[in-house]
Amino acid sequence: MRGKYISLLVLIALAFNEVVAKSSTPKLRRSDFPEDFIFGAATSAYQVEGAAHEDGRGPSIWDTFSEKYPEKIQDGSNGSIADDSYRLYKDDVALLHQIGFNAYRFSISWSRILPRGNLKGGINRAGVKYYNNLINELLSKGIKPFVTIFHWDTPQGLEDAYGGFRSAEIVNDFRDYADICFESFGDRVKHWMTLNEPLTVVQQGYVQGVMAPGRCSKFTNPNCTAGDGSTEPYIVGHNLILAHGAAVKLYREKYKASQNGQVGIALNAGWNLPYTESAEDRLAAARAMAFTFDYFMEPLVTGKYPVDMVNNVKDGRLPKFTAQQSKMLQGSYDFIGINYYSSSYAKNVPCSTENVTLFSDPCASVTGEREGVPIGPKAASDWLLIYPKGIRDLVLYAKYKFKDPVMYITENGRDEASRTGQILLKDGERIEFYARHLEMVREAISVGANVKGFFAWSLLDNYEWANGYTVRFGLVYVDFKDGCKRYLKKSAHWFRKLLHQKKSN
Ligand SMILES: *[C@@H]1O[C@H](CO)[C@@H](O)[C@H](O)[C@H]1NC(C)=O
Ligand SMILES: *[C@@H]1O[C@H](CO)[C@@H](O)[C@H](O)[C@H]1NC(C)=O
Ligand SMILES: *[C@@H]1O[C@H](CO)[C@@H](O)[C@H](O)[C@H]1NC(C)=O
Repeated sequence: MRGKYISLLVLIALAFNEVVAKSSTPKLRRSDFPEDFIFGAATSAYQVEGAAHEDGRGPSIWDTFSEKYPEKIQDGSNGSIADDSYRLYKDDVALLHQIGFNAYRFSISWSRILPRGNLKGGINRAGVKYYNNLINELLSKGIKPFVTIFHWDTPQGLEDAYGGFRSAEIVNDFRDYADICFESFGDRVKHWMTLNEPLTVVQQGYVQGVMAPGRCSKFTNPNCTAGDGSTEPYIVGHNLILAHGAAVKLYREKYKASQNGQVGIALNAGWNLPYTESAEDRLAAARAMAFTFDYFMEPLVTGKYPVDMVNNVKDGRLPKFTAQQSKMLQGSYDFIGINYYSSSYAKNVPCSTENVTLFSDPCASVTGEREGVPIGPKAASDWLLIYPKGIRDLVLYAKYKFKDPVMYITENGRDEASRTGQILLKDGERIEFYARHLEMVREAISVGANVKGFFAWSLLDNYEWANGYTVRFGLVYVDFKDGCKRYLKKSAHWFRKLLHQKKSN
């Protein structure tokens, strides 16, 4: 009897959950979040700046990838104009201010500062001036700059010289570049992220080959001109981690005392649920986390790779940190940025012995659906299945597994398909997306997660990498056919209303 009663309660609870999940958009208040909570929006240099070949900027691997291989971009486009933010940055800042955001996350284009990627190739003063202007404009409106040093746009000069992130030589060049950023902007920039989504770099750039520099094994995609998905992702990931560590060490030794800023990293991951409740699938889900989030988080906390990676990446393919590197990496962050979009199911599968890559090494099949039922509704991008609870669970996972770090949600958002000749501003689905995800962030905070801010991706519709201009992630619509004219979407007005609420509300 009692057992039955309890299962009934569970059933009701489940049903209630269902009802809640399907009911109207949650009502959020500004006062649901701490008073000093940061609300901002994010962009990245190649996706918004344009002026790709102007004022002394050197090419990056993204200029090369999109301009030389337009067939690899869904609409054959490139970021040479993008949102023209290089010229229209004051408009961007005015939009942020109008919406009520108190922070802006943008990235610096490495080859705009160092056209050839290194000091030998000279510093481009026009590039330094552009970021000075942008930062000063932000501060004049009371908006805090959150600056990403590397958002995927490796200078082509370094790719040509030694293979970019495939070579350990890049660590010193990255440190020199970061040094210029800290020295030039650190008097005003107090929040830095060394890298954006190193996981995406290794997965998309070196396993799938669908993002610059477009490398992969022939068995993955015969269109890749070169690459090796079994070794290169791990080498590149290793050098990315060391580049991060070197920049943080430099900041702490040379700038921390005078500038007193915070340095972190922006890591992306989905939340992985076990496909079934079997022990095998639970372990598969844990391995899926080890090869994604933990891959970059664990070295920053303990100076080591996750045990699942050490065990599964066979034949010496996983590089090792020296004792000195390991020491440098331990605790090399003041905060962790979390980029969250989607979640998956992970199912245990036998380990591959042939055609192995970073994707087969976890011995887990990671899928967006279970028994034909997707984990959540699909946005415009195929990979973006909407699962708001995942943001809460990922944040809590980071809290409990990795020493309760200070966190910012550095990206979260959804897209809609671009429609030619239509200025679409009624994005109710985006409002619902943010309401549900912010609700889950609030829940994570309420049980103790140290989340200090939230950045919407993105302020503007922009150049969405290999999807070109076919999808739109912006709170602000950009008319690419009409001089990049900007229009607030309904979701921007929704944020404005949330952020302009009086304290008493
Ligand atoms: C890049 O895009 C611009 C503007 O959209 C276009 O005019 C140009 O031809 C493209 N560049 C290349 C090399 O395809
Ligand atoms: C490995 O890749 C080769 C080349 O594409 C293919 O012929 C072979 O069937 C693959 N082996 C496995 C086990 O998938
Ligand atoms: C390879 O390139 C061709 C031509 O651009 C394209 O049609 C095909 O879909 C590509 N194959 C893969 C697996 O991406």
